[in-house]
Amino acid sequence: MFRTHTCGELRISDANKQVTLSGWVQRSRKMGGMTFIDLRDRYGITQLVFNEEINAELCERANKLGREFVIQITGTVSERFSKNANIPTGDIEIIVSELNVLNTAMTPPFTIEDNTDGGDDIRMKYRYLDLRRNAVRSNLELRHKMTIEVRKYLDSLGFIEVETPVLIGSTPEGARDFVVPSRMNPGQFYALPQSPQTLKQLLMVSGFDRYFQIAKCFRDEDLRADRQPEFTQIDCEMSFVEQEDIITTFEGMAKHLFKTLRGVELTEPFQRMAWADAMKYYGSDKPDLRFDMKFVELMDIMKGHGFSVFDNAAYIGGICAEGAATYTRKQLDALTEFVKKPQIGAKGMVYARVEADGTVKSSVDKFYTQEVLQQMKEAFGAKPGDLILILSGDDVMKTRKQLCELRLEMGSQLGLRDKNKFVCLWVIDFPMFEWSEEEGRLMAMHHPFTHPKDEDIPLLDTNPAAVRADAYDMVVNGVEVGGGSIRIHDAQLQAKMFEILGFTPEKAEAQFGFLMNAFKYGAPPHGGLAYGLDRWVSLFAGLDSIRDCIAFPKNNSGRDVMLDAPSTIDQTQLDELNLIVDIKEGE
Ligand code: AMO
Repeated sequence: MFRTHTCGELRISDANKQVTLSGWVQRSRKMGGMTFIDLRDRYGITQLVFNEEINAELCERANKLGREFVIQITGTVSERFSKNANIPTGDIEIIVSELNVLNTAMTPPFTIEDNTDGGDDIRMKYRYLDLRRNAVRSNLELRHKMTIEVRKYLDSLGFIEVETPVLIGSTPEGARDFVVPSRMNPGQFYALPQSPQTLKQLLMVSGFDRYFQIAKCFRDEDLRADRQPEFTQIDCEMSFVEQEDIITTFEGMAKHLFKTLRGVELTEPFQRMAWADAMKYYGSDKPDLRFDMKFVELMDIMKGHGFSVFDNAAYIGGICAEGAATYTRKQLDALTEFVKKPQIGAKGMVYARVEADGTVKSSVDKFYTQEVLQQMKEAFGAKPGDLILILSGDDVMKTRKQLCELRLEMGSQLGLRDKNKFVCLWVIDFPMFEWSEEEGRLMAMHHPFTHPKDEDIPLLDTNPAAVRADAYDMVVNGVEVGGGSIRIHDAQLQAKMFEILGFTPEKAEAQFGFLMNAFKYGAPPHGGLAYGLDRWVSLFAGLDSIRDCIAFPKNNSGRDVMLDAPSTIDQTQLDELNLIVDIKEGE
């Protein structure tokens, strides 16, 4: 038997017991004639003691143990003289009588402790060692618990988990596909699912009524902190439902997860906000509502006073940072530099402080009378001590997005983005289409199967850009944790949608003919949603990147540095697949 207990299990009540433990040597310390070893496994750390005076030979062997050796010991549980309140086993130690080295280990490339000296790259290369650290492992434990709770919740509501294939054809989520060449079908490729979207709709046609799947999705897109090329969705679909039914069901699931995994009881219905308002007041379709700092538009007040930047602007808007009038010139200059960064792209920033006596002192005082500045102050409802920050630009949406970045930065600087505070929001009434400069055509904002709002259907012929969709996203603390829509189940409406999206009937048939065909055989009204599992876990664990809750993630260049993938393949493999690799100079 390798062990009677785990390394996280023994307490003072076990004193005098004879026990056997197995684990890894985290640390060893020699103090006089005593050697202390921290023995670690998944469950915790237990202190081992070897005493030279009692057993010199055993102590000598213990002194030779290196970091991360795998050992088995037998000994007696004993009350510790100096207790360690930081760990659950801190009241006891094991007086070791037998030591068995199960395996030796090379010195690890970084210390395997909560605060490691290992940088990102090295930890990713040796991810299996990184995963021995509490901080990383606990994220995966949380992930495990979340999938269990998801399954419990959905099972209790009659959802059936169905696996769908990974080797399929192109799916419509708008990213690039990852493709897999087919040996048996020369010159042809599978595409990996960007989501199981079309398949879950087919399951509705099959009468499954309530489907879910914890599904791997693959998207070849630029990576960010909350994006991986391969990620996991809690993918769901329901028949005979309206938007309200789906919102209720998945709001219930979110509340269940908050309660069971974070101990947070959310009793109030989640806020809802129309997409147009989210853009107008927060410059984002995923506003962080942990703090207010709503945009105030100032075109009426600030335009036409001789300040050419504002006079020529299509949008002037600002935010009011409560109590931030103490910001120094240096801090304000740093904020100006922040909004001028190429990723944000503002040309400059105007600021105004509300003084103790209520007067407004701004960086553009020479263009504005105190009277106008007071009107501006009133528009914000600003008080003495507040700081007003204003951006302007010739493109309304772009300027709003810049102001959104500034708002988030101020939220961070003022400590308003507490990771232990959660504000959940449904963003609803998304536009059906968005204009793509790149493609020179309207694109589906969600995907081409999304149902337009009934009352907006007549606009499909006259003004498609104004059509709103029965689509919704859930946003928590500024993170889009899920999204979905009511689907089109009518083949004719679907054909019209493809037409507006610029698909020729042939292209629509080639890409989605199977679905349109299926719809001819009695498709029920249906809709659904997918939550991003990685994003939920990282939100609950307070992580800055979803990478930290994925066992073996990819780096920012989409590489798995541990497996060294992607990589080239043998010529024989290429031949079998009928592939010729032709890399152009400089690529
Ligand atoms: P959508 O594309 O909005 O919808 O994706 C649903 C949710 O998946 C998560 N997500 C990601 N997480 C990590 N890395 C990524 N690259 C990534 N991309 C998306 C987000 C997002 O909200 N088929 C539809 C859903 C539906 O209509 O039912 C879909 O995939 O949390």
